[in-house]
Amino acid sequence: MEKRFNIVNNDVEKYIQDTLAPLRDNLQVMYRNALKNCVPVVRLEVLRVLETYLILKKPYSLLELGTATGFTSIFFSEYLKDNGYIDTVENDLEMVKRARENIKEMAPDKNINVIYAEACDYLKNINKKYDIIFIDAAKGHYEEYFDICSNLVNDNGIIFSDNVLYRGMVAKGDKIPHRQKTLVERLHRYLDKITKDERFCTSILSVGDGLSISVKK
Ligand SMILES: C[S@@+](CC[C@H](N)C(=O)[O-])C[C@H]1O[C@@H](n2cnc3c(N)ncnc32)[C@H](O)[C@@H]1O
Repeated sequence: MEKRFNIVNNDVEKYIQDTLAPLRDNLQVMYRNALKNCVPVVRLEVLRVLETYLILKKPYSLLELGTATGFTSIFFSEYLKDNGYIDTVENDLEMVKRARENIKEMAPDKNINVIYAEACDYLKNINKKYDIIFIDAAKGHYEEYFDICSNLVNDNGIIFSDNVLYRGMVAKGDKIPHRQKTLVERLHRYLDKITKDERFCTSILSVGDGLSISVKK
């Protein structure tokens, strides 16, 4: 079982992880290396939920905030429409370089643009729309991201936000360690806001570290 903080019962988590279809070979290696080297990477059970929607939606355009080493971009690129593309934004130059190398090696025929920028700056300066947006950058800025992304996603498009239950703390009320208090309060406010946003149908899944799915009506 992956040794990360689980928000649901460990036995359930392990059981679900054991049922997941394995990744294809080079993605499997990349995933294992990410875990071994403490590179942030999506949880597999979250990835499989995202995959389900990607199969149904077959997006032409996908925006990711938070590239890290490009694992999710490479995975997502398998599910794009013909000539579809991914824009993925990362503010850590070392990660950007590694992501570009990984994409060149593992998905050379896919249209994945790794953009070196602060996510908010990027969002404020673009004038295009996406079928799917995956929010996975700075957890404390999700509200700002969503405010802008809500206008950048096409009708019937989807905004996913990862880690929204943050180690289960978002549901815990007053028992939050001091260090995490601000972040948890922000995520709490974030979920409150997006679940009340009538332009979207939002659900929160207690999968991985918490995943919200907001479909634009
Ligand atoms: C959880 S990781 C992304 C993991 C990646 N989506 C995957 O599963 O392969 C979050 C990434 O967001 C980046 N990040 C954090 N704050 C950011 C910001 N303000 N703008 C852009 N990227 C940011 C971090 O450097 C980190 O690489």
